Amino acid sequence: MKRAVVTGGAGFIGSHLVDALVQRGSEVLVIDNLHGGRRENLTSAMARGEGRVSLLELDIRDSNVKDEIVRFQPENVFHLGAQINVRVSVKEPTFDAMTNVVGTVNVLEAVVESKAKSFVFASTGGAIYGEQEHYPADEDHLVRPECPYGVSKRASELYIEYFSRVAGFSGTALRFANVYGPRQNPKGEAGVVAIFAERILAGKELVVNGSGEQTRDFVYVKDVVKAILRAEQHNTGGFSCFNVGTAKETSLLTLIDEMRGAWSRIKRPADPEFSVVRHGPALPGEQLRSVIAADRIRNAFGWQPEVSLSQGIEETILSFRTDGA
Ligand SMILES: NC(=O)c1ccc[n+]([C@@H]2O[C@H](COP(=O)([O-])OP(=O)(O)OC[C@H]3O[C@@H](n4cnc5c(N)ncnc54)[C@H](O)[C@@H]3O)[C@@H](O)[C@H]2O)c1
Repeated sequence: MKRAVVTGGAGFIGSHLVDALVQRGSEVLVIDNLHGGRRENLTSAMARGEGRVSLLELDIRDSNVKDEIVRFQPENVFHLGAQINVRVSVKEPTFDAMTNVVGTVNVLEAVVESKAKSFVFASTGGAIYGEQEHYPADEDHLVRPECPYGVSKRASELYIEYFSRVAGFSGTALRFANVYGPRQNPKGEAGVVAIFAERILAGKELVVNGSGEQTRDFVYVKDVVKAILRAEQHNTGGFSCFNVGTAKETSLLTLIDEMRGAWSRIKRPADPEFSVVRHGPALPGEQLRSVIAADRIRNAFGWQPEVSLSQGIEETILSFRTDGA
């Protein structure tokens, strides 16, 4: 039985990872300050894990993180705990850097001291390349973040490269595209699928910022978890970095069409009609196009996305209905 630490494990992606780790029989220590995460996200993992999952409500910047991780003696550390809001990073770059850079270094020091074998980090493929020069962007694309959040993720990658080299563990940065799926917080600024799903279920209009021609690369959370678990097996004893996306560029308007199609398939007679779409003002500085290539991870681990956008959207809306969202 492997022991794993998951920072940010009470969050959206982290809690799906915890589910998968429990399913394979691991013992899991979740470190999360519940800033955006929720204890309820761990209910199913805790029930299934029968004592093998524990939640430590702690900030990743806290000096106790090292002692706790060293005491737990994990083989693997998955670092997903972060300040995730791009606009917050623009308004409060110091707070963003304290959480995302200093917090990461704090966790890395614990990895070195605990002699964990692998460290997998949730980086970003959406914010790290900035406005792209070619589409889809591969990992060798110029890194030119247009927000402090992208800078803090890149800085973390450099720290991982350094620590994994000098301490000899395997450090992997996974640059996620736009991840969506059950448990994503619809109150956040990201997570357009979650925001729209909640509004569709409530019969409320969907508000599109600007023309709706802006594009993103939507990848389903369960595919992302599979990529994380493959990366954990990648014991190179050094640093590597992989995009995790679909290489498919989807505009917001196409996404809405997909959501309309999904709703028509799952709608019950008493459910509201599909919501009206309204265009609001474009968000200042919003990236126009974003899509990433996943050839490197496919060649290295044989990973590729398996869940289609229509299937993923359907599962997401259904899960929000069950949650009573
Ligand atoms: N969702 C996406 O599309 C996406 C894309 C690229 C990268 N990522 C990265 O994936 C990771 C998980 O993101 P998510 O979408 O699941 O968001 P999330 O907000 O659901 O998860 C982040 C978790 O980190 C916790 N956290 C925040 N600050 C903390 C702190 N100081 N100490 C301890 N815990 C803290 C939160 O409580 C939350 O549970 C993040 O690192 C994020 O930057 C997400």
